[in-house]
Parts: sequence; structure tokens; C-alpha cells
Amino acid sequence: MTTLIKGARVLGGEPADLLLEDGRIAAVGRRLSVTGADVVDADGLVALPGLVDLHTHLREPGREDAETVETGSRAAALGGYTAVHAMANTDPVADTAGVVEQVWRLGRQAGLVDVVPVGAVTVGLRGERLAELGAMADSAARVRVFSDDGHCVADPALMRRALEYVKALDGVVAQHAEEPRLTVGAQMNEGDRSARLGLTGWPAAAEEAVIARDVLLAQHVGARLHVCHVSTAGSVEILRWAKSRGVQVTAEVTPHHLLLTEALAESYDPVFKVNPPLRTDEDVQALRQGLADGTVDAVATDHAPHAVEDKESEWAQARPGMLGLEQALPVVVEALVETGLLDWAGVADRMSVRPAAIGRLDGHGRPVAPGEPANLLLLDPAARAAVDPAALASRSRNSPYAGRELPGRVVATFLRGEATVLDGKAVR
Ligand code: DOR
Ligand code: ZN
Repeated sequence: MTTLIKGARVLGGEPADLLLEDGRIAAVGRRLSVTGADVVDADGLVALPGLVDLHTHLREPGREDAETVETGSRAAALGGYTAVHAMANTDPVADTAGVVEQVWRLGRQAGLVDVVPVGAVTVGLRGERLAELGAMADSAARVRVFSDDGHCVADPALMRRALEYVKALDGVVAQHAEEPRLTVGAQMNEGDRSARLGLTGWPAAAEEAVIARDVLLAQHVGARLHVCHVSTAGSVEILRWAKSRGVQVTAEVTPHHLLLTEALAESYDPVFKVNPPLRTDEDVQALRQGLADGTVDAVATDHAPHAVEDKESEWAQARPGMLGLEQALPVVVEALVETGLLDWAGVADRMSVRPAAIGRLDGHGRPVAPGEPANLLLLDPAARAAVDPAALASRSRNSPYAGRELPGRVVATFLRGEATVLDGKAVR
């Protein structure tokens, strides 16, 4: 199949035509013409490499009422993603070669993005003994990212052992940094506001203490550590310090932690309940700066679909988590591009290049250039629209952006030259 994209601004540069052929970008140039190609008018659109998410909850197997590999893949494609890492906290947990291969196969069947399974670090996410990391790495799913996300690998000896194993597998431990003893019953960021609202606080130190410990362990072992969803200014400082000392640590920040603050908890609307919690405006500013200067490597969605009965309850009973795939790029445009903190090359780096490198993915995070795999998206940066949860492709509705107007619309997404999204609509 041949597609000719007319007049796209690659990384925001001068308009050029892109010829996609046999899954690759065959040519980039002015006034290309080919007979028999599907033509896509990209006048005014920015072309970026297909986005790569390091942190997606697809909920299959086990909670297909909240999301499936297929519905989550469709949401991802609509968000401009061509690859997503599927978190391991499914039911059963993705802690064996069998389960990660099942998720990987479901991803291939859906065929909308490359679904890359994450393997659990510990059996059943229980934090007691290591899962079969080697078997998952050697499986058809080729797991390289291991995470107990949703839970912290709290035992330092177990964490050390996990780092030693992943080092041998060229893998990485993606840590959900939360000291469980400091967050018993926690509901929101700890501070004056939590005291006033009468909700148990989740102190910044519960995250920062684990990150500080783990960068020291990663340095000691000489292994790669990735920190999930950093949410505090102090975490950014610790990462900056660790990187300056040569520790092999990378980190991600979510769209919601780049845009939203704990003030939203005042509504007691559980759509704003998330783990780690929304923090203060100073934290948001520090996270934006950290992402802009590269201390924080990547934006990762932590897309966490929840069924209505798990989410629309009292705040204290509601599950933590919020949707992210379909609005991640618009949030980054608002928080980082429109504020002048990142240019389009910076967006491509933090949302595609670096996440692909952290996950050791082939064929993703590559430049939009001749000879490269045709994994890319077309964005209309001038479009602005209010988010309508009813219109989302996700099976769940827990978007924290409902009713909020955000800039930037993904017009098209291509996976190996095949359109998965055209005119802002999923092709399948
Ligand atoms: O808010 C969250 N939701 N944080 C997590 O760590 C897990 C996730 C989920 O699985 O719902
Ligand atoms: Zn997490």
C-alpha cells in the first residue's frame, strides 16, 4: 500500500510531502507525485514520530468491562500512539511467559498499535519473591520492562535482586515509588488542603524516599532503573542529582501531573483521585521544568480505565486512576509547547524517542525520514476542542479533562505505513 502525505511540517519545519511505501517512509521531499497512491492532505499539520507509551493499563485479561487490549489500542491510536507498554497488574497478573504472550497476541490481533507487555517484578505483585523475569524476556513478547506498578517493590533486598536480574536481560525495573508504610489509607496529597478536607494525606516523602533508595541501589548494581509517574518537585531534584552522578536512571511524568493540581480534590469528584495523587502548583512547575531540561525523560500516560461502579462512588471508596491516552498530546501541547518549554523536536523526544529507547523497542522512536519505518502521526496544532468523555474510544469514562478545552488534534496515525486513524477517526 502506498500513501502520499502532502505538505506536512515534519517536527514543525517547512512543509514537505511524505511517501509511505511497504511500511516505510520511502521519500520526503517537495511536490512528490506518485500514481495510485492514497493522498492525505496535511496542509498545516505537524508530523511527529508515532508516540510510545511506557505506562498503559489495558486491563485485559481480567477487567474487560473497563478496557480491552482492542479498545485501549484504539484509544492509543487516536492519541497518536504506535506503541504502548501494557502494565502487568491484570487478573491474572502478567508474571509468567504465558500471560505476557497472551497480551502480546491480543495486541497483534487488534493491530492498531504495537502492544508491548510489561512483566511483573514479583509473583502476583505481592512483593515477596521474584517472578520468572528471564522466561518473560525470552518469550515471544520479548519483555524488557518489568514493573509491579500499582504496588511498590518495597523490600530493598528484593529490589536489589530484581535490578541484578534485569541487568543481565538488558531490561529495566520500572518502579512505582511509594513507601507503603507512609501511605496507609492515603487519599490525596498531604498538606494543608488534605487536613482541611479531612482526607488522609500521601506525603511527598513517601515517593522521594523510595526514589532516593532506588537510585543508590541502581548505582550499586550498575543496572537500569526507571521511575514511574514522578509527581513531586523533590523527586525531580533527586533525579537530577542521580543523573549528575552517572546513575542509569530514567523517569516519566504523566499528563495529569503536568496540568492538574490537588485543588481539584476540593470537588470530592473521584475522577481526580489518582496514585500518586495530584500535587501542588509548585510541583507541576518543577515537573514541567524537569521534563523541559531532560531530567525527566518521558511523558507516560498511566492510562488507568475504571468501570463506573469502581469510580463513581465516594472519594474514599473509588479506585485511583484516570484515562490518558487520547488527551496526552493535547495536554503536552498546552503545558509544554504553548508555554515555550518544548518545541516539536522536544515533544518527539519525550513522547517517542526516549520512551522507545527505555523500552528497547525496535522500529519506534525513529526520525520521520527516508528509510525509516512509517510510524508517525499528523497533528493539527491549531485545533481546539472540549473533551467529551462520551466520545472517547476507551471503554471507560474516567477522564479528568471532561469539558476542558485542549489544543491540538491528532488527525492521522500510521503504523508501518497503514493508517490506524484518518480524519481524526479510528480506521477500525
Ligand atoms: O492511579 C493509579 N491507577 N495508579 C497506579 O499505580 C495504578 C493504576 C491502576 O491500575 O488503576
Ligand atoms: Zn503506578
